[in-house]
Amino acid sequence: MTETLAIVGAGHAAGQLVASLVMGGYEGQIVLFGNESVAPYQRPPLSKKYLQGELPAERLLLKPESFYPDNGVELHLNEPVTAIDIESRSLQYGDGQTLRWDKLVFATGSRVTQLPVPGAESSGVHYLRSIADVDAIRAAFAPGKRLLIIGGGYIGLEVAAVGVAAELDVALVEIAPRLLSRVASPQLSEFYLDVHRNAGVDIQLSTGVERIEPHDNGLRVTLNDDRSIDTDLIVIGIGVSAETTLAASAGLKVDNGILVDEHCQTSAADVFAIGDCTNHPNPLLEKRLRLESVPNALAQGRCAAATILGAPKAYAEIPWFWSDQYDLKLQMVGLTDGYDDTVIRGDMAARKFACFYLRDGVLIGVDAVNSPKEFMLSKPAIAAGARIPTDVLADPDASLKDAATLWPGV
Ligand code: NAI
Repeated sequence: MTETLAIVGAGHAAGQLVASLVMGGYEGQIVLFGNESVAPYQRPPLSKKYLQGELPAERLLLKPESFYPDNGVELHLNEPVTAIDIESRSLQYGDGQTLRWDKLVFATGSRVTQLPVPGAESSGVHYLRSIADVDAIRAAFAPGKRLLIIGGGYIGLEVAAVGVAAELDVALVEIAPRLLSRVASPQLSEFYLDVHRNAGVDIQLSTGVERIEPHDNGLRVTLNDDRSIDTDLIVIGIGVSAETTLAASAGLKVDNGILVDEHCQTSAADVFAIGDCTNHPNPLLEKRLRLESVPNALAQGRCAAATILGAPKAYAEIPWFWSDQYDLKLQMVGLTDGYDDTVIRGDMAARKFACFYLRDGVLIGVDAVNSPKEFMLSKPAIAAGARIPTDVLADPDASLKDAATLWPGV
């Protein structure tokens, strides 16, 4: 009898998993459940080109909608899974329908952190995670409108850049003493603070929000230092956490993400998890990680597919991320916690540079701004644990590629 593979969640990781299974000739029945009304799509453009109105929604789709029926995939949109029983290998979805499965994959992604203050539910206050969220924000985007962004992370800064380009009057409050503190070093935070302030964004650091109230056809936001900001529109981007509610109630081991091994296998037989919702081992970095990252979602989608297809290939990837703001393409590779030295190559003032992070002389991470070559060459160097002389790193005319021959394992 044909086996049934159920996938819970229809985001980027699930989309890649289905594509890899179809390409690999999977013979079972794939059943994919999503809680949005759209087939798997790319989220990164949401806070960039899609918010700008430069990309139609169809272009976000990972595969055309016809791909799923054409390949025998049962796609249940707007039909979230509501309960899972691992022992009887069944799940409930929609209005209480039941499905029996043989294999199950959690691809439940991340849950947006809600701002815990009075008035955060008011009309005019938005989060940004889905196409529907951005459609609502865009409807209120108009030149001259006042936009307040709460949170100076990736979402906040990308929305600020789009807001400036759309001629809104943009302000931003960040509770930490610097921007992008979750992912970037102090140098990079300082650089982006200057970039945004020079573009006209009014940024308040070390500032939280106490409450939000309707005021004069708009909203009044009271800050934790008793000042207030009047605005027409609020976008909140204060982080995410792994969506593990269903997995935990089904009895899987969860600890800051669903615990999986290097083959995306959870603590239960024939049950897998992929993407943002996982806490997984990284053999190259020799530690467990939970990543909020599209490249990781794609890699784990491929990894789980290989396991399910019976040709397992262990996950081993160096994490990387990117962000587009104004004319700046930021590409980050590696994890920089614990660095003890930094080297800058290029010119920060000219908005084209790479910041290399070293620990005990070993390259562990790079933030490249408008420097794709440095980003590309650093990826294998970090995976190999390379030592590159700091004078080579610092000199824009010295070839990183030539130094590559000196790297162990490259
Ligand atoms: P984030 O974790 O990048 O940034 C959240 C920011 O909000 C932090 O700087 C934090 O200090 C601040 N914050 C927390 N509580 C606050 C409060 N009460 N008031 C003011 N500030 C507060 O999360 P973000 O920006 O919400 O992004 C969500 C997810 O989307 C992340 O997983 C991110 O990786 C992903 N994303 C990635 C992009 C990329 O890779 N280019 C672009 C956009 C989103």
